Amino acid sequence: MLRAAGLSKTYAGPHGVPVPVLHGIELEVKSGEFVAVVGASGSGKSTLLNLLGLLEPASAGEVWLGEERVSHLGRRAQARVRGASIGYVFQSFLLLSGLTALDNVLLAARYVGRTTTRPSSRAGSSSASPTAGPCSIGRRSCWQTSRPAISTTSTRE
Ligand SMILES: Nc1ncnc2c1ncn2[C@@H]1O[C@H](COP(=O)(O)OP(=O)(O)OP(=O)(O)O)[C@@H](O)[C@H]1O
Ligand SMILES: [Mg+2]
Repeated sequence: MLRAAGLSKTYAGPHGVPVPVLHGIELEVKSGEFVAVVGASGSGKSTLLNLLGLLEPASAGEVWLGEERVSHLGRRAQARVRGASIGYVFQSFLLLSGLTALDNVLLAARYVGRTTTRPSSRAGSSSASPTAGPCSIGRRSCWQTSRPAISTTSTRE
């Protein structure tokens, strides 16, 4: 379960002028639930996902994953939680263009400590393999690139 309590974010704008974006967000997403965050451009969707995904700190409030208050962990501990529990597909995919699709997926698996052959067989049997081989990410279409990007987020089981 993912839970946000009183989550707020204020950026420092030009000349130090505060830019308040999120105010006291209360959110609970139960296991198996599918949630879409919708809103006008600039309303704070990416900011909210960044806070929930522990990519940047909140100005106030808490993020809970199950029974653990992850928002108040140190950066290293947050990185471990993120690697183990959070899949994040960025709009720009953020894949390494020098690697094949398969190697991108396997690299993500190494970061989360999955060094067994299972990630390799999973990656090979799902999104990455049909067009992996020597083809690099950089020459792929958006659709082709999205498949390994999604696969890298599912290396944690
Ligand atoms: N690092 C930052 N520093 C200052 N202001 C920021 C920063 N990041 C975002 N903002 C501001 O926060 C507000 C929310 O931005 P955010 O990117 O979360 O919106 P969004 O809903 O994802 O928009 P879009 O639909 O265009 O992606 C905007 O006014 C934006 O200019
Ligand atoms: Mg956005």
